Amino acid sequence: MIDFLALIQSKTAIAARAREIVSGEDNLPIFASGGALAQIRIRDYRFAQTVMSVQRKNALMPQVSQLFFKSATILFLLGIIMGLQMGLSGDHTAFPAHAHLNLLGWVSSAIFGTYYALNPAKAAGRLPMLQFIVYTVGIVVMIPPLYFLSLGNAAMEPLVGIGSMIVFAGVLLFTAVVFSRQA
Ligand code: HEM
Ligand code: HEM
Repeated sequence: MIDFLALIQSKTAIAARAREIVSGEDNLPIFASGGALAQIRIRDYRFAQTVMSVQRKNALMPQVSQLFFKSATILFLLGIIMGLQMGLSGDHTAFPAHAHLNLLGWVSSAIFGTYYALNPAKAAGRLPMLQFIVYTVGIVVMIPPLYFLSLGNAAMEPLVGIGSMIVFAGVLLFTAVVFSRQA
C-alpha cells in the first residue's frame, strides 16, 4: 500500500528518483544484483509511475473549479457580446441582463472556482458539485427572461424570480460549503 501523503510530502526527492528510474539512469547497488533485478525494476517502475500520476493529479485544479471556470468563460463571452451589442447599437435598455450575466455569471462563478482551487479539501464530496449545478442552472433560468423583461416584456417577471431563487439556493449551498468543517 502506498502512503500518498508521504509521497506528496517528499515530492522533490521522489520526482528526482522517479526520473532516474524511468530514464534508466538508476545505478543503485540493488539493481546490480542478478536474479531479482527484473522484478525490482518493474516494481520500481510502477512505483515511479504512480508517483508521477499522483503529482500530475495534484497539479490540476479540482474538477468543480474547472467546471466553474468553463461556465464562467462562456457566460463572460455572452456578457461581453451583449455589452458590445448595446454599445454598437446605442440601445442600452438590456443593461440589467448584461450586468447580471457578467456579475453572477463571470465574476461570481470565477470566485467560486478560485475558492475551490485554493481549498481543494472543500472541493471534495457531492456538495460542491451540487452547488455548481444549482447555481449555474439558476443563471441559465434567470438571465434570458431578465433580458426580455429589461426590454419591456413584463410577463417574464415570474421566471426571473424563479431563476433568482435558484441562484440564491446555489449561494446558500456555497455558504454551507464554506462553513462546513474542513475534511
Ligand atoms: C467589452 C465588454 C463590455 C461592454 C462593451 C459593455 C458595455 C456596457 C454598456 C453599453 C452598458 C450600459 C451603460 C449604461 O447605459 O448605463 C453597460 C452596463 C454595465 N456593465 Fe458592461 N460592458 C462590458 C463588460 C462588462 C463586464 C465584464 C462587467 C462586469 C464584470 C460589466 C458590468 C456592467 C454593469 C454592472 C453595468 C450596469 C452599470 C449601471 O448600473 O449603469 N460590463 N455595459
Ligand atoms: C439572484 C441574485 C440577484 C438579484 C435577484 C438581483 C436583483 C437586482 C435588482 C432587482 C436590481 C435593480 C434593477 C433595476 O432597477 O434596474 C439590481 C441591480 C444591480 N445589481 Fe443585482 N441582483 C442579484 C445579484 C447581484 C450580484 C451578485 C451583483 C454583483 C456581483 C449585482 C449587482 C448589481 C448591480 C451593479 C446593479 C445595478 C445595475 C443594474 O440595474 O443592472 N447583483 N439587482
